[in-house]
Amino acid sequence: MPGIYDEPELYEAACAYRDIPGEVDALLRWSGKHRDSETGPLRSVLELAAGPAEHSRELARRGLDATTLDLSAAMCARARELAAADATPVTVVQADMRDFSLPRQFDLAITMLNSLCHLLTLDDLLQHLASVARHLAPGSLYITELAHPADFFAERRTSSEWSSEVDGGTVSVRWGGGSDEIDPVTQVTREHVSVTYRQRGGAVRTVTDVVPNRFWTATELTAAIRLAGGFAVAASYGDFDADTPVEAADAWRMILVLRREDEADRT
Ligand SMILES: C[S@@+](CC[C@H](N)C(=O)[O-])C[C@H]1O[C@@H](n2cnc3c(N)ncnc32)[C@H](O)[C@@H]1O
Repeated sequence: MPGIYDEPELYEAACAYRDIPGEVDALLRWSGKHRDSETGPLRSVLELAAGPAEHSRELARRGLDATTLDLSAAMCARARELAAADATPVTVVQADMRDFSLPRQFDLAITMLNSLCHLLTLDDLLQHLASVARHLAPGSLYITELAHPADFFAERRTSSEWSSEVDGGTVSVRWGGGSDEIDPVTQVTREHVSVTYRQRGGAVRTVTDVVPNRFWTATELTAAIRLAGGFAVAASYGDFDADTPVEAADAWRMILVLRREDEADRT
């Protein structure tokens, strides 16, 4: 049975609510603020678990040399197709973000839309951080956008059900929520996903899936980053459109800005 990541066009429609240029503005703003100025100008980006590569394609349109990585063959094919359609140069690699090896380093790495939830164990997260660190020069940044912990510990700040008007129709999404319960030991929720696309005056198509989602707390992430070595937390934010602290009552994302440390400074 194909899952939601095997259906990139439905996935894109489900995520069409995002303001990608606005999010890219924030990535560039944080990059300017937190990158070590001695690392030189920002020229290249590596996007992990990139799916259809919305952010990388926007960064490439703004002149960056962009590479994307995703485990799903269908997502990689879609990223290549979209990049070719608007003649945006993006290199697409099919690989596992838990352990990858590319023949070069980058000035910036990003992981968007809570994709670290697909790292289900501490070992997965440590291997991932080590892989990312190998691909960044000292002073470069790794920016990762996660779900806000309030979604799990307090009131939910993100919706689990929404609808959007997309080209030619309407998409209705359920992503988790409802009766999906977090496993109190593993912190993994088997999120029930359903995406229905209703073409105006025409066909209706639904894809359902069960997607495992590991909830990472802020303190677990901080501990894992220290344990992995190679990164220091330079900043954290709770939103894209302003420099909202992650602690703010209206913060709805947990965005960590990690700076690659110079190994020599650590000894
Ligand atoms: C929630 S989607 C996010 C896609 C994209 N970052 C975005 O902002 O739209 C998660 C993506 O992670 C990918 N993924 C899941 N596990 C992965 C792994 N171990 N390595 C690389 N990609 C993975 C999926 O194929 C999917 O494209």
